Amino acid sequence: MKEGFGSTEGQEPHPLLRLVDPQRVPQHVAIIMDGNGRWAKSRGLPRIEGHKAGIEAVRQAVTAAGNLHVRYLTLYAFSMENWKRPSAEVRALFSLLRRFITSESREILKNGIRFRTIGRIDDLPARVRSLLRDLEERTKHFEERTLTLALSYGGRTEIADACNALVAEAVRSGIPKEVTTEDVARHLYAPDLPDPDLLIRTSGEYRISNFLLWQIAYAEMVILDIFWPDFRAEHFYETVLDYQRRERRYGGVSPSKAEPPERTRRGAR
Ligand code: FPP
Repeated sequence: MKEGFGSTEGQEPHPLLRLVDPQRVPQHVAIIMDGNGRWAKSRGLPRIEGHKAGIEAVRQAVTAAGNLHVRYLTLYAFSMENWKRPSAEVRALFSLLRRFITSESREILKNGIRFRTIGRIDDLPARVRSLLRDLEERTKHFEERTLTLALSYGGRTEIADACNALVAEAVRSGIPKEVTTEDVARHLYAPDLPDPDLLIRTSGEYRISNFLLWQIAYAEMVILDIFWPDFRAEHFYETVLDYQRRERRYGGVSPSKAEPPERTRRGAR
């Protein structure tokens, strides 16, 4: 197994890692990185300083995901709604993203991480787009781990885009047919990614903010009462431990409370 992103070879594993059940690690973790602005404000700094500090938290999240052997990590880096922010902040965010891709691409390659994006990537500045496309291309053969950045992303737009693709398909084939959930899922931005098992949000807000609306149908949620720039690998480990204490029933009942099979077959008696 390769070393985690940014982890230091030869270091003792974090004690919390020993408590994690390796058989029940979430396959896909998605994170709403929130609170950069408030982190900066609480220190009397401009908002962009919060975003800058958020980069170290991104590195910590990728490292922790690697140490836990989480296969898919998806980060909400820029929403469609974020375009409404002052243009200086938007420019600064893309400049940070460019710097991040440039400085971390070696680590991403070294750690065998497939890099992907979801969202309306064509909306992004050309220079950012080409950096993203280049890294996606150079890492597309990696299978063990995937880091996905959601950029110019909106969950409702993703579903609408999928519906439009289905309409186009029906028009092309000339055969009208009933749309199934599988049809929609196959037209999402990254249809091959499994649904997130765990959704983390920082900053103590209980909101989904238009993130992965389709995919989080059965995700377990953990809200952390810290701002994103304060997020560290330990928070990731603690969150996974919390996830492992939960029972996922997907709308069913727990195995201990399930009806015995004979009774279920005969119906109510
Ligand atoms: C939300 O905090 C965060 C964002 C809109 C941007 C996330 C960006 C980063 C973590 C840094 C760059 C990321 C990468 C992947 C290079 P907010 O500004 O909405 O905080 P607030 O709610 O306190 O105002």
